[in-house]
Parts: sequence; structure tokens; C-alpha cells
Amino acid sequence: MSPVTTAPTVDVHLETDWARRSLIADVRRGLGNRPLRIPPQWLYDERGSELFDLITRLPEYYATEAERSILQQQAATIAELTDADTIIELGSGTSDKTHTLLRAFTSTGQLRRFIPFDVSEATLREAATTLARDYPGLLVHGVVGDFHQHLTHLPSDGVPMVAFLGSTIGNLDHEERQAFLSVLFDQLGSGAWLLLGVDLVKPVDRLVDAYHDPQGITAEFIRNVLHVLNRELHADFDVESFDHVAMWDPLHERMDLRLRANGDHLVHVRDAELEVEVLDGEEIHVEISTKFRISTISTEIDHAGFQVRQVWTDPPGDVALLLAARP
Ligand code: AVJ
Repeated sequence: MSPVTTAPTVDVHLETDWARRSLIADVRRGLGNRPLRIPPQWLYDERGSELFDLITRLPEYYATEAERSILQQQAATIAELTDADTIIELGSGTSDKTHTLLRAFTSTGQLRRFIPFDVSEATLREAATTLARDYPGLLVHGVVGDFHQHLTHLPSDGVPMVAFLGSTIGNLDHEERQAFLSVLFDQLGSGAWLLLGVDLVKPVDRLVDAYHDPQGITAEFIRNVLHVLNRELHADFDVESFDHVAMWDPLHERMDLRLRANGDHLVHVRDAELEVEVLDGEEIHVEISTKFRISTISTEIDHAGFQVRQVWTDPPGDVALLLAARP
């Protein structure tokens, strides 16, 4: 019997203007208070996603390849340990790294369903179509949403493994991580699994090189968020007069990425009905990228109620993959 290709479905749980309303709210809050802030999820318009993809191929940015190597080594073991029939991938994007997992899980015959979850509907539809074609018989059910707000839209039947890779969790501060993990715990039934990828603490010079690369790709990526506001909200940022600043915050053990104004600027964000005076040298906080220690992230996972079962690192110990059970 030849396997049947099942058409992918994509559920959009958000109102059509959700993204825009949420951007306006974030900008009013973030640029209406000090320190000035623009949350990192707005970095990923089409150009931003392209730039991030270039970052993952920079020699200085070790994280993506390191995680891929662990997945390649361990995918079969993960499939065996979890016995999951559903993979839910948060922030799936193009689902590129997911192939390794999907291949391992489909070859044992255990996988029924793949649920990519992402804010970008266009990326999700494209990924879902490709995956449904590449894995005949697999139900591909994309869910459009934001993992800060819409985790409750995830299906809760079957034996799911939630994959949250690429150290995206590092964008959240300690409190936000705890809230996120608790909501995830409540949403998942007993017997579910969590596969979490994190970037580990390492020498500061390597981190600064990874977030302030000599080609300036990261600078362009972070600055792109101002282009997003100019285009989406009719703002008038003079993008080129903001410098990319990447510094190590030793207290929180995280990289802190900001845009520093050259000269005074009076910025109008028309669609948010906002006027912001940015002074010479003032910084807009755009992204944090937390670096973890295995002991502390394990404690955070345990605190939310999960039980860490396995931890893998790449040979140099740059990144880690943690597998936890939801008892
Ligand atoms: C996608 C959030 C994991 O923090 O390393 C890369 C984003 N920012 N270079 C990271 C990013 C600048 C990346 N994450």
C-alpha cells in the first residue's frame, strides 16, 4: 500500500490584525517608558528572517551548528526515550533543524502528527506544505500564534513532545522563563515531553564575537527592527544613525543587545500616536540572549514541575539539549 500524502492544515487562532495591535501596544509601552525598549519578536520580518539565517551561517555564531550536531547524534535515542506520537515545535520558522527529529521519529513508525507553531503565518504555511510532501502519512497541523500568549491553543491529546530549540528561551528573563515553563506545564498532559535547546556560558570574547560579528550582519539584523517600525507604523527613525551595541551582562549571564543613538533625535511613530525624544548616546534595548549553566536551567525546568531526564552537549560544551518529562 502506498502511503497517502495528507494535506497540511494551518489554524490561525489570532484575529487578523492581532500582530499589528500587539506591535502598537509593545511600541507604546516600550518607547513610552525608560529605558527605551523594542521586544525582539519584531526583529523577524522577511528581511530579519533572512538576516538571522545569515547569522546562523557565520563562523562566529557557533550555536546553530552545535545544536544540529547534537540532534544528529541523539535523534534516534530521543525518539526511543519519549515514544511521542506528536512533535510540537515552538518558533518553528522554516522547520529546518526539525528534519533530523522527524526522520528519526518517522522511521520508528511512532509519529502521527507534527505541529509547527510560529507567529509568521506565511513561513508556517510554506513549511507545512514542504513537510506534508516530504513525510507522506504524517499529519501536519500548523498553529499560528505567539508563544508568549497563545500556548493554550496547542492541542493536548496524544503523547506530545514540545521542541523549543535554538536557545530562543534565552530571549526571556528569569521571571518570563518561569512563567513560560509553568504555562507550558499546565497546558501539557501527564506523559508529555519537553526538548529544550540552550546556549551555555562561555568566555566573553567568544560571545562578543558571536553578537558583534566583523561583517556587521548582526548589527544589520538588530537595526532592522527600526526599519520594521518605519514601515509598519510609519515611524521616521534615521536607522543609520543608531549603532549596534553588544555587551556581556555578568550579573544575569546574558548578552544584551542595544541600539545607541548618535546625536539627538525626535522620532515620530505615527500609527502609535507617539513622539519620542532620543538623546545622543541613549540606548534602545532590543534583545537579551541568556547563556545558561546546565545546573541552573535544570533547576528552572524542575521548578515548573517537569523532570529533567537527559542532558546532552556538543563536544566543546557550547550548547546543551535537555529532555524533560511532564509527570
Ligand atoms: C534566535 C534568540 C536564539 O539569541 O542567539 C542572534 C538571536 N540575535 N544574534 C540568539 C540572535 C543576535 C538568537 N536567538
